[in-house]
Amino acid sequence: MADKQLKPFWVQLSISTLMLLLITKWGNAKPQVPCYFVFGDSFSDNGNNNKLNTLAKVNYRPYGIDFPKGPTGRFSNGRNMQDFIVKYLGFEDYIPPFAKAKGKRILKGVNYASGSAGIRDESGEKLGHRVSLNQQLRNHKTIISRINSKLGDSSAKKLLSQCIYSLQIGCNDYFNNYFQPEFYNTSSQYTPKQYAMVLIDQYSEQIKSLYDTGARKFALYGVGLIGCIPSVIKVYGTNNESLCVDRLNIAASIFDERLKLLVQQLNANLTEAKFTFINPTPNTLEIVLSGFTMLRQPCCKIGGGGGELCVRNSKPCRFRSRYVFWDGVHTTEAWNRLTARIAFRTHSPTNAFPFNIRKLAKQ
Ligand SMILES: *[C@@H]1O[C@H](CO)[C@@H](O)[C@H](O)[C@H]1NC(C)=O
Ligand SMILES: *[C@@H]1O[C@H](CO)[C@@H](O)[C@H](O)[C@H]1NC(C)=O
Ligand SMILES: *[C@@H]1O[C@H](CO)[C@@H](O)[C@H](O)[C@H]1NC(C)=O
Repeated sequence: MADKQLKPFWVQLSISTLMLLLITKWGNAKPQVPCYFVFGDSFSDNGNNNKLNTLAKVNYRPYGIDFPKGPTGRFSNGRNMQDFIVKYLGFEDYIPPFAKAKGKRILKGVNYASGSAGIRDESGEKLGHRVSLNQQLRNHKTIISRINSKLGDSSAKKLLSQCIYSLQIGCNDYFNNYFQPEFYNTSSQYTPKQYAMVLIDQYSEQIKSLYDTGARKFALYGVGLIGCIPSVIKVYGTNNESLCVDRLNIAASIFDERLKLLVQQLNANLTEAKFTFINPTPNTLEIVLSGFTMLRQPCCKIGGGGGELCVRNSKPCRFRSRYVFWDGVHTTEAWNRLTARIAFRTHSPTNAFPFNIRKLAKQ
């Protein structure tokens, strides 16, 4: 009799203890990596272009309409893809933009990304000032010396080796360089295949210089289907069944294949570090199941910036989670959430190779 009463009591006690443990654990849960650094272009920029003299900045409405703080310089209606990945890794705060990063927050990472920036310094210059990847890497050195003075060199080195370094860059080297022959001369110098090689060689050196500063966990993003971006289709037209600009997609796919090979080589050559290639283009089923019905139509009224951004203070579409594209180039928060989820946990080697971001964190 006593036994029978005791048992439920003990069961209940252990369940509540377990729940208490879970709650306590969850309450001060640590992120899966201590810090996260972001390099890239407008797909990752979270405010670095706001004070630059450029057409590629979006610190105005309706950008940020679904972001708690309103317009921040993110090229979306809400959060961007890196915001979601940081959340999935367990960070409580966003990673601050370099332009505003100060104090102890830099120990958790900094976002250096800049709209219209490229692997090559000249990419995007027609739109105005931008922080090229080379300059982003120099800015990172500034942050490292600040971290060194906060923690001392050896603790700083240990910390920097545990962070994830995210690099999503390259599309401006195509549509804000190679495919604008009236302004840039790369297409008269190189075939698409040669250009991809030239870009990857330069990128490889840039990645190695980041490795030399102590980075050990790298996520390198492909440029994906740049020929399916609304503004690109508008400029180059399409008279094909794919409904996209095939020559841009073909050029980009050469870059992505080369990047994947680079990841393999870097993993083989720099054995202390881990590199993974991410190209989180969802498949048709995932797109449909996630409720996207507007695949090519931008949500906001286009005409701002260089002609591809939202018109200032215009009224955007209402059902934003059905749209892939927010403006003429950049994607909606709903899409960014989907692609971040794929990057974080996919097991498909076409989307993440050799592993997803969750696994990269555990390496
Ligand atoms: C191409 O343009 C760059 C500047 O963007 C210039 O430095 C270079 O000399 C040009 N090359 C050729 C072959 O015209
Ligand atoms: C149309 O698609 C085919 C097959 O993908 C390709 O070979 C061709 O170059 C494309 N044409 C244009 C105008 O993009
Ligand atoms: C990796 O090492 C091989 C052999 O030494 C070399 O040929 C190749 O260029 C290296 N690749 C990279 C990306 O470091």
